[in-house]
Amino acid sequence: MKTTIWGMVNAAVCLAVLLGTGLVAARALVQAAEAESAQAAGDAPKMMHESDCFSCHSVDKKVVGPAFSAVAARYSGKPDAVSKLVEKVKNGGAGNWGDIPMPPHPQFTDAQLKTIVEWVLAQNSKAAPAAAPANGAKTYNYKLPDGRTLALHFPVFSNGDHVTSSVFKGWEKFNSYCFRCHGTDAVGSEYAPDLRHSLESGMTKSQFITVMMEGVPDKGMPKWSGFFDPDDADEIYQYVKARSVGLVKPGRPSE
Ligand code: HEC
Ligand code: HEC
Repeated sequence: MKTTIWGMVNAAVCLAVLLGTGLVAARALVQAAEAESAQAAGDAPKMMHESDCFSCHSVDKKVVGPAFSAVAARYSGKPDAVSKLVEKVKNGGAGNWGDIPMPPHPQFTDAQLKTIVEWVLAQNSKAAPAAAPANGAKTYNYKLPDGRTLALHFPVFSNGDHVTSSVFKGWEKFNSYCFRCHGTDAVGSEYAPDLRHSLESGMTKSQFITVMMEGVPDKGMPKWSGFFDPDDADEIYQYVKARSVGLVKPGRPSE
């Protein structure tokens, strides 16, 4: 979920006009906004946040596209990496990491893409501790209502039967954006499948997040990349996963 600077400027302009402070204040705001975007030219993460990169990538996790730390590791020490990746981000395409294509990004100049790609390639060392196997191996064991014991890669509860804030935020987002098709409490509806069942019948986290971000346009499943970032997607996944195994009951979970 993001607000654009133009959205903010427009809102501020309307407010300024309403308050009768008139054009002078409005013009000052527009100039401030222009100064800010000129400043952004040398700033890779900012350009990437203003574009769509982080709706498909994260530094240390695979989302729809590979983790930037994995990209940095793969191309480390390859002299032509920058020019190759500049072309790839500009023109899009698939094949190096799987079948899912990256969309083209013709809006950037080559110089901007070089700044961005150099930033991506620098994520190697920085992300290494977070990507270490020990981190991925951390599990939380839960006894399920049906008697099974299950190891999850995220905690569901933080304090007695109160859910973690991630699970709670996942419920809030599900309950605002997904429920109208996938049913209140994620039980499914005539419009869209029961996502508890999808996960229980073997859909992995990465498949879940890929379908969620990419959508299935010809089947009526909207695409959420650009609206939700990877952290949002992770929270929604956590809520649905906890529902699918019966750890979170119907209704508003207590945080
Ligand atoms: C809609 C999803 C999506 C968006 C948006 C997206 N990417 Fe990607 N990206 C992918 C996928 C999928 C791949 C893997 C492509 C492949 O297998 O060759 C990828 C691969 C990459 C690679 C590695 C390319 C290679 O050939 O190894 C880089 C670098 C990259 N993306 C950077 C970016 C940047 C920078 C942006 C924003 C300007 C961006 N991506 C936006 C999905 C996306
Ligand atoms: C406008 C209706 C609609 C909304 C809103 C919607 N979905 Fe869907 N979704 C669908 C439909 C329809 C399908 C089945 C697509 C198909 O048949 O391949 C689907 C499929 C999925 C699947 C794949 C399930 C499977 O078993 O293949 C996932 C995961 C999913 N949606 C997640 C979400 C999430 C998360 C949200 C909220 C952010 C959401 N959807 C919002 C209509 C919707």
